[in-house]
Amino acid sequence: MQNGTQTDRRAADAGRLVLIQPDLAIELTHGICVSNLCVRLGEELGLHEDHLYRLAQAGMMHDIGKLRLKEYVRGREQESLTIEEIRYVRLHADLGADILLSQGWDPDIAVWVRHHHENMDGSGYPRRLKGEEIPLESRIIRVCDVFAALTTDRVYRGAFDMNTAIDMMIDDSRYYDIHVFLAFQKVIHDLEPEELKTRAETLAAISSILGKDST
Ligand SMILES: [Fe+2]
Repeated sequence: MQNGTQTDRRAADAGRLVLIQPDLAIELTHGICVSNLCVRLGEELGLHEDHLYRLAQAGMMHDIGKLRLKEYVRGREQESLTIEEIRYVRLHADLGADILLSQGWDPDIAVWVRHHHENMDGSGYPRRLKGEEIPLESRIIRVCDVFAALTTDRVYRGAFDMNTAIDMMIDDSRYYDIHVFLAFQKVIHDLEPEELKTRAETLAAISSILGKDST
């Protein structure tokens, strides 16, 4: 489908920029946003408090593998990145889970991070899990991650508004757990516009701490 292809192309473009131009402030802000959304969605799905706390941790750490990816890519010829970029980008899910395990994190959280790019139709990575083979928590992170990315300004495009982001996700709904996605739409419906402003302020604050211009 054209929309899916466009989304795949966007994902590939995003991956290229993550590899060549990683931005710690954006990654941290994204982690905070995904973590907050995961908690909201987990509440909507009726998860209990302890579960929500661990889900918040997974949401914050879901892309931690990109830090290792950056190290892995460093020193490589840029030409090789353009050929193998998708493969490199896809390493971050396994790398993130392995980092968490090596640091003594809850093994469940590592599993949730490992599978945060799996798709319900089996087209995701790293294991091409399908349907309920994918942990519920990974299905939650998947939806929150995509929404957070689409509604954030990137170097190569502006942020999509919330309704446009949801419409784009509906086009790709085969990737998502429909029960989780419907609950997410309810969460977003209740989300105050103020929260997007708060996210921009968080990015500015983190960028300032890191000594970078966030604009
Ligand atoms: Fe990721």
